[in-house]
Amino acid sequence: MNANFAGQITLGDLTVNRIGLGTNRITDAARALLLRAVELGINFIDTADVYQKGQSESMIAKTLAPYRSRLVIATKGGMSWQDSSPSNDPKYLRDALDASLKRLKLDRIDLYQLHRTDPKTPIEQTAAVLKELKDRGKVRNIGLSEVTVEQIEQYRAVVEIVSVQNHYNLLERKHEAVLEYCEANGLAFIPWFPLAKSKLGNDTIERVARNHNASQVQIAIAWLLMRSPVMLPIPGTLSTQHLESNLAAARIELTGEEFEELSEIATVARQAAA
Ligand SMILES: NC(=O)c1ccc[n+]([C@@H]2O[C@H](COP(=O)([O-])OP(=O)(O)OC[C@H]3O[C@@H](n4cnc5c(N)ncnc54)[C@H](OP(=O)(O)O)[C@@H]3O)[C@@H](O)[C@H]2O)c1
Repeated sequence: MNANFAGQITLGDLTVNRIGLGTNRITDAARALLLRAVELGINFIDTADVYQKGQSESMIAKTLAPYRSRLVIATKGGMSWQDSSPSNDPKYLRDALDASLKRLKLDRIDLYQLHRTDPKTPIEQTAAVLKELKDRGKVRNIGLSEVTVEQIEQYRAVVEIVSVQNHYNLLERKHEAVLEYCEANGLAFIPWFPLAKSKLGNDTIERVARNHNASQVQIAIAWLLMRSPVMLPIPGTLSTQHLESNLAAARIELTGEEFEELSEIATVARQAAA
């Protein structure tokens, strides 16, 4: 299968295909899945130090070492391994980055994303640490995760930010303003939980899926890709069949009318809940 990925997207000084792979459930059992992803042309892999307590990073390093030169590997730090609470203490961040470099067997991280902003730590201080890590050559590009427009601007006052990874999908649109900010400022927007899988089942999605002989998950991906040129979905899967199906979604061309109808679902649901 030769997926076309709906084009490419830039992340600072790097360019990647516009569907990546989320790896928060990747363990030692997922070798074949990782290899198949690269074989299919995926060149953006999203991980984090906390995923499977470091196993996701280690497995990516072990499995994908031969393909390293053609991959962009993004990881994250700044979250406690004990309880997933934000942890932006400067020493914690520096140590977390060194540990990620070691597990990933790299000298420099392509995209280092601050996993969460810690309300106990001033943003200016955290941004300065991220800048220091970049200046020291340990990080090539910096991204943020789960942030507001105001917070992005506070970070950007200190250090260049190339991407934002927030919870966003067809049915979860609370970060619309952040997406618009990313579009206006040339930042990539990486939606996490992009498939909205547990919430699919809506009549409109089902009808559009039937129109395209596609699954509802594929329609959720096609909608994201059409929603914005800065969108970089990273569907997470352990199934090679789902992986192939997720990439095939890039070839679905929704009509303008279908796109509008799908876009309305979240608005209508929000109004009904209000
Ligand atoms: N920044 C953050 O705070 C944050 C938080 C959460 C996640 N993330 C990142 O975002 C990535 C994606 O998020 P996510 O994995 O939580 O959610 P997701 O990609 O929206 O959904 C993953 C779920 O959908 C299933 N799935 C995948 N493709 C499918 C298909 N074609 N048909 C049916 N089911 C399918 C997967 O199961 P199967 O294994 O059976 O396919 C899994 O249960 C993560 O891997 C991680 O890298 C970031």
